[in-house]
Amino acid sequence: MSNTNKGLEGVVIGQTTISRVAGDAGELIYGGYHIEDLAGNVTFEEVCHLLWYGELPNAAQLHDLRGRLLEGMAVDDAVLDVVRLVAADSHPMAALRTAVSALSAVDPDAEDMSAEAADRKAIRLTAQAITLTAAIERIRTGTDPIAPRADLSLAANLLYMMHGREPDELAERIIDASLTLHAEHGMNASTFSARVTASTLADMHSAVTSAIGTLKGPLHGGANERVMQMLLTIDQPDNAAQWVRDALGRGEKIMGFGHRVYRTVDPRAPILKQLAEQMLDRGGDTRWLRISDVIQTTMREEMDRMGKKIYPNVDFFSASVYYTLGIPMDLFTNLFACARMAGWTAHVKEQLADNRLIRPKAEYVGPVDRTTSPIAQRP
Ligand code: COA
Repeated sequence: MSNTNKGLEGVVIGQTTISRVAGDAGELIYGGYHIEDLAGNVTFEEVCHLLWYGELPNAAQLHDLRGRLLEGMAVDDAVLDVVRLVAADSHPMAALRTAVSALSAVDPDAEDMSAEAADRKAIRLTAQAITLTAAIERIRTGTDPIAPRADLSLAANLLYMMHGREPDELAERIIDASLTLHAEHGMNASTFSARVTASTLADMHSAVTSAIGTLKGPLHGGANERVMQMLLTIDQPDNAAQWVRDALGRGEKIMGFGHRVYRTVDPRAPILKQLAEQMLDRGGDTRWLRISDVIQTTMREEMDRMGKKIYPNVDFFSASVYYTLGIPMDLFTNLFACARMAGWTAHVKEQLADNRLIRPKAEYVGPVDRTTSPIAQRP
């Protein structure tokens, strides 16, 4: 009998102090703090400090980190030229992957494997992912990138550099909370990718470039874009129940539902739903939330009937939140990447602090004992 574990489900590959994902209880904890306590109560910058250094910052530490993040947001013109080369013809996640890889060419610490250099690169990469995401949007729409503003938070700068105008307080608060919610999530696929690359003692830019490529897929970070495509296809709340039943009948998965670890509600989903509702309270289009409600109810009925523990995940509500904020659909996963850069870099640092090459095995099930023959005699 095979002893393989397809998809590595349930396999524990190491210890971490960065976050705990308790799948049965539906709990997510960063460095000891529940996600419900963090989102909205502390800023994304404070969460970065928690993930990188294990503690929430005091006022002086936060002031220092903010300064370093703002300084780190600058992106060299050579890298913006790379974005100019690829942005029009690539998916924004492919453009980000290419640009982040290119950042290593101009990073003075690129090949420095010291812990101090890792700290500096974690800050720069997290800040630069935000600048690059906004620049990709500007450049592919034929407008010039906008430089970050020193008086704005990372969340506000993201919207400012993308749209060319300062966001209002609610939009900033929502993006800030969303960055916090997406910043870290245990040994998810992209973080695992980053740690595998780091475990070979490759540099941090290589590790996060691997991670961006892994996040791009629709079974991971790419799901939020697919959720919005689904909402647009459904178009009206009245169509939603039948659409879901038809899709399930065809054996399709409904994007924004299910999770490898959570067997109950993803704790991030209700927080995002609340944020979406706050936006609607100020007069936003309620259609996407009403469609989402019908999808959620129909999925609950169908999954209960089938005896499956499938619930909404973080991507289900982030899609309509981003869309209502005027963020283009194919940029949703880039926002996820901006947030998760904080988590990836924290994991790279943790991996390097106590490294052992990550190298599992595969069970070979192909033919054995074959012998070669001259090419003319092969069938
Ligand atoms: N819609 C309908 N059915 C789903 C489903 C979904 N979104 N997600 C899982 N299922 C079903 C599967 O078809 C499978 O049914 P089966 O046992 O009859 O074959 C069962 O639930 C288990 O799913 P499986 O795909 O084996 O789970 P996994 O742990 O390998 O995959 C995900 C987890 C997240 C990849 C998967 O749930 C999924 O593809 N979801 C949609 C994409 C998504 O939202 N991703 C973002 C994650 S944060």
